[in-house]
Amino acid sequence: MRRNIVTMLLWFGAAAIFTIHVIMQHRKGKEQVEEISERQLTQVKTTIIERTERENIHQVKQNLNANDDADEKSNNDIDAQNHDRIEEKRESDVNLPAADVNNNNGQHDVGSGSINNQNSLEKAQEEIEKLKVENSRLLEREQQFKNLARRLATQLKGREGGLLPKLDPYLPWIFAITPTYARYTQKADLVRLAQTLLHVTNLHWILVEDASYRTDLVSRLLQESGISFTHLNIRTEPKLQRKKGEKHNKHHRGVNQRNLALQWLRDNVDPQKTPGVVYFMDDDNTYHRKIFDEMRRTRRVSIWGVGLAGGARWAGPIVKNGKVVSFHTNWAPDRTFPTDMAGFAVSLSYLLKEKRDVKFDMNAKRGYLEPTFLAQLTSMDQLEPLAENCTKIYVWHTRTEVPRVSIRGEKMLMKLGKPSDPTIEV
Ligand code: UGA
Ligand code: MN
Repeated sequence: MRRNIVTMLLWFGAAAIFTIHVIMQHRKGKEQVEEISERQLTQVKTTIIERTERENIHQVKQNLNANDDADEKSNNDIDAQNHDRIEEKRESDVNLPAADVNNNNGQHDVGSGSINNQNSLEKAQEEIEKLKVENSRLLEREQQFKNLARRLATQLKGREGGLLPKLDPYLPWIFAITPTYARYTQKADLVRLAQTLLHVTNLHWILVEDASYRTDLVSRLLQESGISFTHLNIRTEPKLQRKKGEKHNKHHRGVNQRNLALQWLRDNVDPQKTPGVVYFMDDDNTYHRKIFDEMRRTRRVSIWGVGLAGGARWAGPIVKNGKVVSFHTNWAPDRTFPTDMAGFAVSLSYLLKEKRDVKFDMNAKRGYLEPTFLAQLTSMDQLEPLAENCTKIYVWHTRTEVPRVSIRGEKMLMKLGKPSDPTIEV
């Protein structure tokens, strides 16, 4: 009995040892298998990462090329729109030089050789750096697209709002020349004037900023105005700029600007193809829309009276039998043509073809800007009186009051470090 028990225990022990051995072997095998598959997996992963990076870069490259095409297309669209405007050859703000938008091509070269395992990490890092560069380029490009979209949107807004230039192929054009300069009331004056001009058919507005660059304020205003325009700029020469403390009429104003606009007309408009008249408009005057239809009849130089000018209720020509015989004015009556800038218009073809060199004389005596200009063009008996023989006033030499309270108040706020929010355009 005892022997039997011992034999059983021995068998049992042997079986246990065998089982343990089998289990151990199995584990070892499993570990080996796991070890192998993990190694393989890492290899597969590396291959995938490498391939993905290659493909990503290829994709980025393709996107960039596609974007370049899109840019070119946008520029073409804009150019086409600009060409719609007979006049805006170089001046339009909308004209984006292609270089502005087009990114540099061919700078995204990715090494074509295969990435071998030893330096794969190095290569991957290199690729990451390249991707970072591409990313910043794309961000920059996105910003450029946003700007482009904003410009197009403002144009479309003008169209949707029905703010389109009024056109009539049978009417002569009016080329309105306006100098303007930055000041507290500039936008208010320009908005008022723009909205007057919107009523006028076949009007092209040449707005010339007295500044060394074209400002965003004026650019936006023009873009949204719905008016056919050319936007120029020229800073008045220093010796003629108004210094602090000088009276407002110490120097002539708007002379370099008007002369630049005349030059632009001479360079860009063919009066045979586009018959018209030239009219000089201050940005702060008041204009009745009737005056524009009057001046379309100008053959050489037409003339009419101006309200609130010449130190009287009005100043202007006295007409007898359809001819100007004298002038009514309360200021410097001895001038050959004692009239205000707002009181005459000149035929475009006459100015461009027969009087090619005529311009405003910066050295004219105070108050003699208009007379010295007109004397180069006409004589009293040749003047063509309009506005019912100069008996109707359709334009007023209004002047916008300088908003002293606002200016003084703003200076105080600045000192207190609490200026009016400069991002709000006024
Ligand atoms: C009067 C006439 O109406 C002007 O046409 C004429 O140019 C001026 O006299 C002159 O003798 O020089 P006034 O109302 O006194 O004009 O002048 P502003 O309205 O202040 O200026 C005339 C135009 O020039 C305006 O359109 C104004 O925006 C512009 N301007 C004025 C400048 O471009 N830069 C300046 O520094 C000042
Ligand atoms: Mn004025």
